[in-house]
Amino acid sequence: MCPIKNVFVTRKIVENGLNILHDNQISIDEYQNLDGKNDLSIPKEELYLRAKKADAMVTMLSDKIDREFLEENSHLKLIANYAVGFNNIDLECCKRLGIIVTNTPDAVTRPTVEVTIGLILNITRNFPKAHQTLMQENFRGFDPKGFLGTSLYGKTVGIIGMGRIGTEVARILSQAFNCRILYTSMKSTASFGEKVTLEELLKTADIISLHCPLNSETRHLINQKNIGLMKEDSFLVNTSRGEVIEQDALYQALKNNKIKAAGLDVTTPEPLPKSHPLLSLDNVYLLPHIGSASNEARLEMAKICALNILDYNQGLKARNTVV
Ligand code: DGY
Repeated sequence: MCPIKNVFVTRKIVENGLNILHDNQISIDEYQNLDGKNDLSIPKEELYLRAKKADAMVTMLSDKIDREFLEENSHLKLIANYAVGFNNIDLECCKRLGIIVTNTPDAVTRPTVEVTIGLILNITRNFPKAHQTLMQENFRGFDPKGFLGTSLYGKTVGIIGMGRIGTEVARILSQAFNCRILYTSMKSTASFGEKVTLEELLKTADIISLHCPLNSETRHLINQKNIGLMKEDSFLVNTSRGEVIEQDALYQALKNNKIKAAGLDVTTPEPLPKSHPLLSLDNVYLLPHIGSASNEARLEMAKICALNILDYNQGLKARNTVV
């Protein structure tokens, strides 16, 4: 087996995260925007050009690692995706070409749980509207009827996708907020809550939180029909992938007050164009895909990518192998 000697990283990531590769005589080629802002994905030509010279890559969830790319770069030994999700990569093709794909599951769990709980509290307790009013100097003093939200305590929460993140969200909401937990999951049972059908969950939950991976079964799972089953005073939170929601249907439901509000860390596309109708609503609260954006998590994710590459060089199965 030929060891990995050089790694191409498609975006500038946290300092020091990949030091362990240098320590093991592996060279790193890290793409950086010319203006140094780091807020744009690598252009396609550059992606293809630089991948040619690499044995392995660290890729971002915004990189399209599709069949065309993979067939041109079948020399790659390993792709370490800097994310828990891997819907940006054609796994079937990687498998066929013998390219190992790894992800960063554990590092992403806690920060994404934090963002999920933050979104739930923000939309149920009206933080965005309250903050905006104050910043626009329209706050005229305590109002006994102002900014009334919905208390999270004791509510029924529906978790769609009971993996690491969904389970941890359920645990915290159940233990800290006395929430009743309903869930749907491909797995048989989870340690918190009651497993129910999707229909029952949608009809019963006060707050619905999406934690399923994006695949052919979950794309547009939250569509017009399913949103129609939700209660008019219910809330929807998404920290998984934008495409799990049929966004036009969500827009119509929010606009016509068919559900109360939504908190979205992910959208389709990312970023949304400035003219996107969702941006005109006051019952949607949007974040720019920051689920894993804590210093601690991003450093840990880099280390995990590096460790998977080192596993390969040591002839071991990479610890976070997806395929
Ligand atoms: C991931 O790692 O897949 C998350 O979407 C990051 O926020």
